[in-house]
Amino acid sequence: MESFDLKHYLRDRKEWVEEALQRLLPWEQSPAPQLDAAMRHSLLDGGKRLRPILLLACAEALGSTAEPLLPFACALECIHTYSLIHDDLPAMDNDDWRRGRPTCHKQFDEATAILAGDALLTLAFELAAQPIAGVAPLEQLALLRLLAQGAGMAGMVGGQMLDMLSEKKQLSLEALQTVHACKTGALIRVACLAGAHLGGGTPEQCQRLADYGRAIGLAFQIVDDILDETGDSQLLGKATGQDRHSVKATYPRLLGLPGAQQEAERQVDQAIAALAPFSQHAEPLRYLARFILTRTQ
Ligand code: IPE
Ligand code: IPE
Ligand code: MG
Ligand code: MG
Ligand code: MG
Repeated sequence: MESFDLKHYLRDRKEWVEEALQRLLPWEQSPAPQLDAAMRHSLLDGGKRLRPILLLACAEALGSTAEPLLPFACALECIHTYSLIHDDLPAMDNDDWRRGRPTCHKQFDEATAILAGDALLTLAFELAAQPIAGVAPLEQLALLRLLAQGAGMAGMVGGQMLDMLSEKKQLSLEALQTVHACKTGALIRVACLAGAHLGGGTPEQCQRLADYGRAIGLAFQIVDDILDETGDSQLLGKATGQDRHSVKATYPRLLGLPGAQQEAERQVDQAIAALAPFSQHAEPLRYLARFILTRTQ
C-alpha cells in the first residue's frame, strides 16, 4: 500500500461518520427543541472524528467490514463531544470557541450546555446498545462496560477531575502521564479496543490494538498541549494559549516544547511497534499514528 493516501482516507471515513450521525440521531424527539439545537450545534459540522475513525480502522485492520459498526463508532463521538461541551464550561476551562464556532454555553447558556452534554452521554449508550449483525449480545455487553469504564471515573471523567486539581501545581512526569492517559487516552484506547473486538480480533490482537490506542492517546494529548502553545487558533477552531493562562499541568510546561515533542514521538513509535504483526490492512493505523505528530488541527 505504498500509495496510501491518509488525507483521502480521513476525508472518506469522516463522511461515513457524519452521514451516520445525521441518520442515527433521534432529532426532534426531545420535548425541548433548544436541547436538540444545542446537541446539533456541538456534534455536527466540525471535529476530526478521530475516535470513531480509529474504531473503524482497527476493525478494518483485522479485515472486517466497518459499516455495521457505525452506530457504536458514533457513540464514541457523542461521548467525546459531551466531554468537550463540559470541558469548555466556565467552571472548567472557560472557553468561548470550539470547532470554529462559539462553545455550547456561549451559543446557548450554561444550563443548556450541561444538559446537551448529559443528553449526548446518554444517547451514546443508546447507540452503542443497537444490535450489531454478527456480534454476540454478550460480547457487545462486555464492550458497553469497556465504553463506560473509558468514559467514567476510571477514564475520561476521572482524568478531567485530575486536570482541574492539577492547575497551578507542579506535577511529576508520572502524575502528569496519569492525567493525560485518563482524560484523553482512555477513550482513544477504548475506541481501538472496541474496534479490535468488533473486528473479531484474537486476544493477542486486541491487546496489541489496545496498546496502540494507549500510546497514540497519550501522544494525542501531548500534541494538543504543544498546539495550545504553537498552533494556529483558526486552524484548530479553538483559542490557543489557554493552558498557560490557566497554568495547566502540561507536557510543554514540564519538559519544554522539544521534550514534549520527543515524548510524543516516543509514544507514536511504541504505537507503531505494537502493530508489527499486522498486515497491510493496518497501514491506515500506522499513518494515523504519524499524523498525530504533524497535525495542525
Ligand atoms: C480535543 O479533541 C480535546 C482533546 C481530547 C485533546 P480533538 O482534537 O479530537 O477535537 P475534535 O473532535 O477534532 O474537535
Ligand atoms: C480535554 O483536554 C480533554 C477532554 C477530555 C475534553 P483539553 O482541555 O486540553 O482540550 P481542549 O484543548 O480544550 O480541546
Ligand atoms: Mg480541559
Ligand atoms: Mg479545554
Ligand atoms: Mg488542550
